Amino acid sequence: MAACNVNSVYSAASVSAIVAQPKLQSRTSLSRYNPNPNPKFPNILLFSSRGVDLISRRSSRTPNFLVLGSSKAEPLRVMISGAPASGKGTQCELITQKYGLVHIAAGDLLRAEIAAGSENGRRAKECMEKGQLVPDEIVVMMVKERLSKPDSQEKGWLLDGYPRSSSQAIALKGYGFEPDIFILLDVPEGILVERVVGRRLDPVTGKIYHIKYSPPETEEIASRLTQRFDDTEEKVKLRLNTHNENVEAVLSIYEDITIKINGNVSKEDVFAQIDSALQNLLQQRKATSGSHAA
Ligand code: AP5
Repeated sequence: MAACNVNSVYSAASVSAIVAQPKLQSRTSLSRYNPNPNPKFPNILLFSSRGVDLISRRSSRTPNFLVLGSSKAEPLRVMISGAPASGKGTQCELITQKYGLVHIAAGDLLRAEIAAGSENGRRAKECMEKGQLVPDEIVVMMVKERLSKPDSQEKGWLLDGYPRSSSQAIALKGYGFEPDIFILLDVPEGILVERVVGRRLDPVTGKIYHIKYSPPETEEIASRLTQRFDDTEEKVKLRLNTHNENVEAVLSIYEDITIKINGNVSKEDVFAQIDSALQNLLQQRKATSGSHAA
């Protein structure tokens, strides 16, 4: 039987082998850019929206964003993370609508594999039913292949629910995929169970609903809504445990580019915070490319 063990594949030796592979994305001119030009007003110039919070967890230094200084505008590369039902998928719908990024959700890729009836899908479902992580040997290649496709490279990407462990982050970095920003949705645990059990999905449009917080617009849509097999109170608690066991390790890898967003407000207000952070990132890029051109 397949073990749901994220570290089963990427031992130290195999990770260094991956790191040695040529990078898929060439970053011609990388620079560290201080996002806070006015130390008298820490972070306000960057993140003026309610609830947006820059994290610098292991040190008191101002977090830095990685900004590209190349002549051609590079597409955005965004990671979004958070506990089960923290609102990742909901926010991804809004982000892609505005920014045109390619949304790549690890959970959706796995569910597609299950629906296809493949051996990987069968193994993935065993782990997902236990609320555990699917082994890296399945997830990493799946995500890497999707990120490598021309649309992701041209339009930029929005990676949802990956990485969920340090080994997944290291593997992706080894393939040359690094985010510009890491968004962490912060929602108190007590809220998450209600969100999960009330979630419904429209199989026709892929849209996410909630019977209380985001009800379907019409009776016709309501009649066709489905529920995920792992959306029970019992299973979300297992998923939450898995999340809590791994989140710190992942955050420590991206701490310099992490923003923590208050996810316990309306979805529109959550998006306003994310939008503000992305706009600031784009403005910094513009300023950097302007100063390089001058
Ligand atoms: P995945 O499908 O990614 O599930 P998850 O991480 O548990 O997250 P969810 O999809 O449940 O929630 P969400 O944050 O997207 O919330 P949503 O927007 O839908 O992964 C499933 C499983 O696959 C994992 O348990 C694991 O086994 C496996 N897996 C996935 N990735 C893996 C990886 N990298 N490695 C190994 N295994 C992996 O919102 C939830 C509900 O809340 C909705 O009803 C919504 O309408 C409502 N809502 C959203 N925002 C708000 C708001 N602001 N106010 C009120 N309600 C809201």
